[in-house]
Amino acid sequence: MQTANDIRRTFLDYFAKQGHQIVESSPLVPRNDPTLMFTNAGMVQFKNVFTGAEQRPYSRATTSQKCVRAGGKHNDLDNVGYTARHHTFFEMLGNFSFGDYFKDDAIHFAWTLVTKEFGLPADKLLVTVHSSDEEAAGIWRKVAGLSDDRIIRIPTDDNFWRMGDTGPCGPCSEIFYDHGPSIAGGPPGSPDQDGDRFIEIWNLVFMQYEQLGPDNLVALPKPSIDTGMGLERLAAVLQGQHDNYDIDLMRALIVASADATKTSPDGAHAVSHRVIADHLRSSSFLIADGVLPSNEGRGYVLRRIMRRAMRHAHMIGATEPLMHRLVSALVQQMGDAYPELIRARALIVETLKLEETRFKQTLDRGLRLLGDEVGRLGETQPLAGEVAFKLYDTYGFPLDLTQDVLRSQGRTVDEAGFKASMDEQRRKARESWAGSGEVGTEKLWYEIKDELGATEFFGYDTEVAEGKVTAIVKGDARVDSATAGDEVLVVVNQTPFYGESGGQAGDTGVIFSAEGTEFAVSDTQKKLGAVWAHVGTVTKGALKVGDVVELRVDSVRRSAIRANHSATHLLHEALRNRLGDHVTQKGSLVAPERLRFDISQPVGLTAEDIAAVENEVNRRILGNSEVITRLMSPDEARAEGAMALFGEKYGDEVRVVSMGGAHDSADRTYSVELCGGTHVRRTGDIGVFKIVSEGAVAAGVRRIEALTGTGAKAWLSERDQWLSEAATVLKVKPDEVPARVAVLVEERRKMERELADLRRQVALSGSAGPKSDGAGDAKDVAGVKVAARVIDGLPAKDLKPMADALKAQIGSGVVVLIAGNEGKASIVIGVTDDLTASLSAVELVRVAAEALGGKGGGGRPDMAQAGGPDVALAPAAIAAIEQAITAKRAG
Ligand code: ALA
Repeated sequence: MQTANDIRRTFLDYFAKQGHQIVESSPLVPRNDPTLMFTNAGMVQFKNVFTGAEQRPYSRATTSQKCVRAGGKHNDLDNVGYTARHHTFFEMLGNFSFGDYFKDDAIHFAWTLVTKEFGLPADKLLVTVHSSDEEAAGIWRKVAGLSDDRIIRIPTDDNFWRMGDTGPCGPCSEIFYDHGPSIAGGPPGSPDQDGDRFIEIWNLVFMQYEQLGPDNLVALPKPSIDTGMGLERLAAVLQGQHDNYDIDLMRALIVASADATKTSPDGAHAVSHRVIADHLRSSSFLIADGVLPSNEGRGYVLRRIMRRAMRHAHMIGATEPLMHRLVSALVQQMGDAYPELIRARALIVETLKLEETRFKQTLDRGLRLLGDEVGRLGETQPLAGEVAFKLYDTYGFPLDLTQDVLRSQGRTVDEAGFKASMDEQRRKARESWAGSGEVGTEKLWYEIKDELGATEFFGYDTEVAEGKVTAIVKGDARVDSATAGDEVLVVVNQTPFYGESGGQAGDTGVIFSAEGTEFAVSDTQKKLGAVWAHVGTVTKGALKVGDVVELRVDSVRRSAIRANHSATHLLHEALRNRLGDHVTQKGSLVAPERLRFDISQPVGLTAEDIAAVENEVNRRILGNSEVITRLMSPDEARAEGAMALFGEKYGDEVRVVSMGGAHDSADRTYSVELCGGTHVRRTGDIGVFKIVSEGAVAAGVRRIEALTGTGAKAWLSERDQWLSEAATVLKVKPDEVPARVAVLVEERRKMERELADLRRQVALSGSAGPKSDGAGDAKDVAGVKVAARVIDGLPAKDLKPMADALKAQIGSGVVVLIAGNEGKASIVIGVTDDLTASLSAVELVRVAAEALGGKGGGGRPDMAQAGGPDVALAPAAIAAIEQAITAKRAG
């Protein structure tokens, strides 16, 4: 038997031999198409290659592409479980030519692969072509030798493939397999074509055009090829099965589900097992590609799929969460082909388990309510929309889950009533905020959120994505467009830009449109916690609501932010380890150029504390362990030891970021925190960590500022440069600088002391020289001995002791000492005790101060001091003192 894994391999190998590059499946969430909910065909990742907007190093490619058809335009969710060929998740095998080969080779390759490699008998096959495409019919005749009755011309869009309202497109040709007359159904194009006898297995699209708008079809630069073959269908045919769910791969999952619930895979629970097998695949692959259950957008589609499966698990009597126990069977089947399943395994298991555990709490009660309500209904009466809404709103039942429950009873839901109840609730919510007196633009943002829903954030795993402009706000009003020079806020349905929150700065970057418009984003803000507003200026062209745009985050800046955010987590843990568990986060700022972290801590950190914390963080950086992000309930997160802000309100699910490897002191990861921010992949990406300041911000709160990566490197280099310069000046090696400086400082202190001593001696000894008794130059002024000195460079504090010494030397008289320092004057006047009755030092110093251009002065009758701005006036001051003494004596 050719297993599904064999078939995938054979397909890719065959095209590789024909010169095709084997390209990995792109993620289920298309980064290059904002109008598409999930990747639903192999060509999605090549959309821009077909139109020539993107170049690849190859012109032939082959893939096995993960596809999801749930939510959005192609929605197969409702039918899964009940039909042979509906899936929410499937694999599309394809080969692609980008302006290389065209119809001839495409048909030749397909026919050879199907009949030779896979060995399908030619007489079981027939094909369709678009009725305008005689060329293709001719090639089929020539290559496959098919008779005309087995080349069916179809005049409708069934044989003209379009990606969507816009995008590459062209006529197509499909290969059908005939299961034989024992099964009901007619050939394609016939009235009973929807029967199961003729099954389409491969679609070859002859890409020739690009649909730009409703009436705008242009030729592609070069004719190209896009093909798509559902792996599950092909496997069914090759394995002689009629039902996709009977192929080896699906069967293995169904059996796993049956084993885990100790039920039979067939019989009464067959539908449920099929639903579980299919939904297990879509849920797991979506989670692996970064979608997490939520109440909006893609996350809500995932939640609907998961809850639908969980209801079926409940139906077959699973009392414990089931889905997460089936992940190993899925990994066994598909992990080789899609290693992302292995990489994301823990996240898949945890997410499934969490969702199922939580949903179990309301599922039972909701089902009971539903049972009661149905009991009251007439035989054919649909369930009231109001009840379906209550189940949705209170018990978390997505509408399609309620519909699925009712389906087996042949009942429906009044969908219009459901929608009316939903609208009514929205209206009430709007009224309650409309009346709450919000100011400025807040009301506007409520309106935008209400109308457009939450923005989808891609920024955890990409920095470039396409999005569609959904609103533009200028001043306090919504506008339809903005032109060059306009400063506006732009809302897009999905974005890789991080909106400022949790202390992490908003991203900057550029938004481009295909028409050449450029919008420079200077900040990104999260309005009402849900709507991302890109703040900035249109720098080129015009931006309109509805434009499809490419959003590019400033990647260098974002890398720096990531490093600083991860370093903040490591710092937090290192601080707790060093200082104690009383350390909690009081504030945090994560900017590209630095990080700032405030903690509760009564006293300052010592130099040793800082060094120890810094070393610890750097040790964790060098450990280069992986940074792991998971989703948990708040309780689980706390049980894991996640550091959360006390009293903070968290939603149903929290993101938990762990890093730093194993903790030294306990069996847990070093740092575990609840965090919505962006982080490095491995701690080594932080580079290096350096604390640059520590200080108080408020009573009991310390602030630490630190740098990482290139910022820290630049900071350290600058200091190194300073050190080198100092070493050059000191003429020593850099490592000798501290000792050399210490010696110099000591020498200087000594010299200053010596100099002061010397000056004192000079002052005391008068102009006669150091050895003189000093009193020799005293002058007689009206019978009073006056010794006056002006000493430049003597510290003011030395004046009084000197005045005392000089007073002792002269025995009786007045001592005047004026010191000059940096041009300013300090003056001390001493009067010997025998004279204080008639001459007051305080009075004399006032006279002197005035002469020195100053004011005031004070002290005691025997010793007083003052200052003045200009030491050059010292002689005038001395003259004034002498005059005052003369006047006093005369009086
Ligand atoms: N793109 C084509 C399809 O999805 C092959 O059928």
